[in-house]
Parts: sequence; C-alpha cells; structure tokens
Amino acid sequence: MSFKNKLNTSKIPRHVAVIMDGNGRWAARHGNERIFGHEQGVEAVRSTVEGAGEIGIQYLTLYAFSTENWARPQDEVQALMGLLVYAIEAETENLQKSNVRLGVIGDTDKLPEEVRKKLFECIDTLRHNTGLTLILALSYSSKWEILEATRKIALAVAENKISPAEIDLERFEANLSTAGIPDPELLIRTSGEYRLSNFMLWQVAYAELYFTEKLWPDFRKEDLFEAVVDFQNRERRFGLTSEQIVS
Ligand code: FPP
Repeated sequence: MSFKNKLNTSKIPRHVAVIMDGNGRWAARHGNERIFGHEQGVEAVRSTVEGAGEIGIQYLTLYAFSTENWARPQDEVQALMGLLVYAIEAETENLQKSNVRLGVIGDTDKLPEEVRKKLFECIDTLRHNTGLTLILALSYSSKWEILEATRKIALAVAENKISPAEIDLERFEANLSTAGIPDPELLIRTSGEYRLSNFMLWQVAYAELYFTEKLWPDFRKEDLFEAVVDFQNRERRFGLTSEQIVS
C-alpha cells in the first residue's frame, strides 16, 4: 500500500523543509562526475514538488546552495549555477500549470547575474499562484540570516525607531528572510547524514527531524509521503507534558 493512502489528510504539515544531500555520492556510485548527481537531483526536486502539491503542503523549502557551498571547486559551483538557470527555465511552465508560487531565501546578491535574473523573472511569473509555495534556499545560511536580522534591528535602535525593550520574538522573526512564512513542522535530510548544516536553525526549533539513508537523486514523492506519515505518528509536545497535549 502506498504511503499516500496512509496519510491523515487532516494532519498535513503546512511547511516541510528539505536538506537535499548525497548528489556527489550518488554520482560516484554511478561512476560519474559530481555534476551528474546534481542533474539527477533535479528529477527528485520535480517529484517532491509534485508530491507536496498533491497532498496540500503549503510551503516547501529546499536547501539548494549554502553560503559555504561557494567554497567548492569553481567548476562545480559554475555547473550548479548553470543547472539552476536551466532548471528554472525548463520548469517555469510546469510550475505555472501546477499553481506553484516561487520564493527565495538567502544572500541573492551573491548569485551570478544570470541566475538572479531568471530566478526573479520566474518568481514574478508565478506570483499570483495560490497553491504550494516553493522556497529555494540559495546562497543561504542560518548564521548569515540571523546576523542580517540583528544588523537591521540594531540599525532601527541606533536610529531611535525602536527601543531595545521592543525587540521581541515577533520583531526578530519579522527581520528573518522567512518573515511571514510559518516555521517548518517537518525537516527532512537525505543521505544518512545527521546534521543541520547551518539550515533554518531558528525556524526548526520545534520541527520534527526525519533522516533517510536515500541519496537525494533517488528521493521521490513516495519518500516524501513516507516522511509525512512518520511525522503524523509523532507526539509534538512543544515543551508541555503528554497529558497536557491529550487534554
Ligand atoms: C548536496 O549534495 C546537494 C547540493 C549542494 C545541491 C543541490 C542542488 C540540486 C538538487 C540541483 C537543482 C536544484 C533545484 C532547486 C532545481 P552534495 O553535493 O553535498 O552530495 P555529497 O554529500 O554526496 O557530496
């Protein structure tokens, strides 16, 4: 029986975040260059986005490129940037048909001009869609984001727009790149690594973490459904006791 049939449709997480890992190892196992793994990863992205839309997930955030990834060999970085341009161009029509909206989090000023251009064109084309919001984390890291938020708030204090006492959770979150987006309830990482790798550290404070041995290029919507079923069988207590949650 498919995991899709085991889903409790009234308990679908609003926001799922994914650390797509294992492209390089997948390529090595198939006797190929790393970029081959990234290319195959696009098929996994397609299937996951489709699956998320099918079951009514509202936000899907994919960690596609971290601030640390800039330090990879330059030919890999260039190939990944080229792949992003290609994938955005090739997928815009499909995303439009599927009513998907696109967003981005990260230090996008660092992206090559061509990637930025295609990305923002695609975001603009899809802006009126009302289905799944797909968020790409590009040139993103949590520490970068938290520092940026801190700078913006410090500036507002220095300019006497707010007092330090007014810095609360809401104000801090309003200055993160995820402002207005609910925190992920489920975080998936592929490839059998058990790390957060500087990804949404603030936002996953109470997320359920799900790790799978599958390498990203092998991940498909059925694997997403399996993760969601697992999520639905957990008791989320948010620091309370089990009895309090039940009542
Ligand atoms: C991690 O695997 C993966 C990446 C750094 C890139 C992810 C990018 C894609 C899947 C391509 C396209 C994305 C979109 C959104 C269209 P790794 O290279 O760290 O693998 P390894 O740990 O096995 O070396």
